[in-house]
Amino acid sequence: MTESTSSGKFITFEGVDGCGKSTQAEKLVEKLFEIDISAVTVREPGGDPISESIRKLLLHAEESMSDRAEALLMISSRAQLTDKVILPHIINGKWVVADRYADSTLAYQGGGRGLSVNALDEINNFGTYTLKPDITFFIDVPIEKADERMSVSRDRIEKEGLNFQQRVRDQYLTIHAKDPDRVVLINGEQSIDKVFEDVWSAMKEKFSL
Ligand code: TYD
Repeated sequence: MTESTSSGKFITFEGVDGCGKSTQAEKLVEKLFEIDISAVTVREPGGDPISESIRKLLLHAEESMSDRAEALLMISSRAQLTDKVILPHIINGKWVVADRYADSTLAYQGGGRGLSVNALDEINNFGTYTLKPDITFFIDVPIEKADERMSVSRDRIEKEGLNFQQRVRDQYLTIHAKDPDRVVLINGEQSIDKVFEDVWSAMKEKFSL
């Protein structure tokens, strides 16, 4: 399905830690700029002063955090970002590129932590004002490869280990299988440029660029 370029669009990048999605999100914003589409980038958790405070709590809390508290904080950070940043931009016709969004909670807190994906989906709907990305790029890499690419200084969630990351990846694969029209699976094992070629080709098709 193709769409017109006249209104704001919402594009998200997803994948396990170390998959390379942040690099691809940056490349996409540059490429859009080249064709005179100015896009705003946001990252999750974070992207707004209140959401960034929640991010610090989520990623660097010293005390052990309950899985449900973690999920709800992820979603409250998202609610703030959606209301204050993403929706106003989209309503004004801007394109928004997000480094992680609602699918991260289904993958990490659902797949990784084992919380109910259905329950998280409903709370996500509440937190996102039911906003759905127009297109999502799931940059898929085997977790061993992603682990090699990850920086040495890891946050609380990145420290969870390979079994956790494997469950996260599996849940992303399920999300893609359930909604392949929105969630485009990209082979992240290729070179940065080749991965971007795949991203751009899907963008061109989706938005008639
Ligand atoms: P990320 O910003 O990708 O890490 P980095 O700053 O290293 O690029 O995400 C931070 C961590 O938060 C990452 O391990 C994934 C996790 N996360 C969740 O567990 N659930 C969520 O809903 C989101 C948005 C992120």
